[in-house]
Amino acid sequence: MKGLILAGGHGTRLRPLTHTGPKQLIPLANKPNILYCLEDLRDAGITDIGVILGDILPEKVRELLGDGSAYGVRLTYVVQGFPAGIAHAILCAESFLGDEPFCVYLGDNVLKGGIREMVREFEEHAYDAEVLLCHVPNPEKFGVAELDAQGNIRSLVEKPKAPKGDLALVGIYLLRKNIFPIIRGLKPSWRNELEITEALDALRKEGARLKAHTVTGWWKDTGKPEDILEANHLLLDGIEKRIEGTVEPDARIEGRVRIAPGTVVRSGSVIRGPTVIGRDCVIGPNTYVGPFTSIGDGSRLVEADIEASIVIGECVIEGTDKIVNSLIGRHTTIRSKGKGLPRGHQLVLGENSTVIL
Ligand code: DAU
Repeated sequence: MKGLILAGGHGTRLRPLTHTGPKQLIPLANKPNILYCLEDLRDAGITDIGVILGDILPEKVRELLGDGSAYGVRLTYVVQGFPAGIAHAILCAESFLGDEPFCVYLGDNVLKGGIREMVREFEEHAYDAEVLLCHVPNPEKFGVAELDAQGNIRSLVEKPKAPKGDLALVGIYLLRKNIFPIIRGLKPSWRNELEITEALDALRKEGARLKAHTVTGWWKDTGKPEDILEANHLLLDGIEKRIEGTVEPDARIEGRVRIAPGTVVRSGSVIRGPTVIGRDCVIGPNTYVGPFTSIGDGSRLVEADIEASIVIGECVIEGTDKIVNSLIGRHTTIRSKGKGLPRGHQLVLGENSTVIL
């Protein structure tokens, strides 16, 4: 079986972060989202993987993943360019996928528990397609599956206004080559995309054997900042304590905290887990890093106070009031101006920034 990870799209709901790179590279617990997808495929025995590239700095994806050998997989890049839909991306990879069954994994999804069981079930029963479903409170934001009493799929609809049930389609699909002619017959949807949900529903109407598998752990689609913070939270919940940096004698580490080599936690600081701090950071003096925070490599936090946030990396945070539930892009500086005049906040913000004061 082959794999196909989608790393295209425009990530409009994540601007300005997606002005400087694809959303699939945003780190969760200090690891780019796309690596969780790649590891799930690899751990299910899928090592021949295609990666769909979009038109927002796709070279950053190549830079991170290379030929895949560092992760124990073999990668083939397929350029989609403009995001004309998930089904369109799959069609772009037709010659790479060939006659083999394949697993499509949307590069902005994170799943606890992996896909091994689902892949085993698909291969054992030779279904035409298998989808993964998850109960959600807001099904209208997703593709929605309606099941009958026996668990068979009755319909699949993309972002329905009046959803029939709360089962969202997770962005992981097991497919075979019989999906290609169906995709070729699709018309662009209301959002001007070729929709995989419509292709699957058409496959179902043709009488194909479609299987629904339900998520047992948790699943997150990281399309919006609040989803990224929640995914970060869920992933940090599972970390173990590992201190490889230096902690000065009167700094305190509480609970499950991971500190990478080259990082120093200076005196008077408190780091409360679950929290991860990357390499070559300086934390403190007198800095508080609260639970559910990820601090990326090369950051400097001095007299700072931060909780439940992601600092992507190479940032400076100095002498600020408490920062909470925040997503802070690379090379950002947040500094207190002190008590001098004129009063007021002094900001240099890129397009589409959000600041809540
Ligand atoms: O996350 C699950 C949901 O993903 C499903 O419930 C929906 O049925 C499915 O349509 C999809 O909905 P989204 O609106 O969240 O899709 P989005 O446009 O965010 O794209 C999903 C991923 O695929 C994302 O990593 C970007 C990538 N992509 C997307 C498009 C449209 C591409 O690589 N190429 C594309 O053309």
